[in-house]
Amino acid sequence: MEPEVRLSTAEFKAIAEWLYRQTGVLLSDQKQIMVQTRLMRRLKARSLPNFAAYTRYLLSDPGERELAIDLLTTHETFFFRDTHQFKILEEQVQHMPMRPLAIWSAACSTGEEAYSIAMTLALSGRMDFRVLGTDISLDCLTRGRLGEYPIEASARIPEVYLKKFCWKGVGPRQGIFRMDRSLIERIRFEHHNLLTASPAADFDLIFLRNVLIYFDEGTRQRVIRHIVRSLRNNGLLFLGTAETVRLEVNGLQSFRPGVYRKVS
Ligand SMILES: C[S@@+](CC[C@H](N)C(=O)[O-])C[C@H]1O[C@@H](n2cnc3c(N)ncnc32)[C@H](O)[C@@H]1O
Repeated sequence: MEPEVRLSTAEFKAIAEWLYRQTGVLLSDQKQIMVQTRLMRRLKARSLPNFAAYTRYLLSDPGERELAIDLLTTHETFFFRDTHQFKILEEQVQHMPMRPLAIWSAACSTGEEAYSIAMTLALSGRMDFRVLGTDISLDCLTRGRLGEYPIEASARIPEVYLKKFCWKGVGPRQGIFRMDRSLIERIRFEHHNLLTASPAADFDLIFLRNVLIYFDEGTRQRVIRHIVRSLRNNGLLFLGTAETVRLEVNGLQSFRPGVYRKVS
């Protein structure tokens, strides 16, 4: 019988430290077994004998680094997450300037958030918008670009949007639905690490939801500084419901629960 391959505490700490440096994501000590289970697949795929060999491989191979980041970060997301924020969006769109709107779904995972924003704007009669969806996971971005989701995910989408923007697959595509082309064309998915400077500086709206929770306070402040710089004056920042920012430091005003306005 083959000896069992285990991730030692020292190896876990080395991988956790590497992930923190790359992404800002903190892995608590309780995650050791989770890391072992998720990375075991990569050991097998690469026919590596143990985690020491895997760690060496990880550090030397850029492709493996992308895969490991994808496996070790949490991508849970769904359409119209925190529905009340989409109600605020729907209401605020009526007061937004009559020029093309730029929206950023930062840490968008597989794109459900970006499509929820696009559906809300389109149904409000604003088709003059662009959404940028960014994430550190390349696999998530590929799925976002495709704009196809399992039919079960549609349960979260209100009927009015389903009828207008979601197309059920038939035949070999049964069990999936596709977002309307008019929305796919308005969303660009790009790789971006939140630890680095933001991709543009003129967003009217930024959604940065359910990602700050994985960072420590220093990283949160650094990310928020980048984000605030990218927001236009009077622009709105949407955070996850469990997340807050220090207002006095950032030039933000609390607008609604979880929503902030940039003030000069
Ligand atoms: C839980 S999902 C949140 C998705 C969506 N915003 C939502 O609220 O449903 C968190 C996402 O943050 C991404 N992420 C983690 N660290 C990141 C970083 N440093 N830069 C960019 N994205 C990151 C992960 O890949 C993951 O897809």
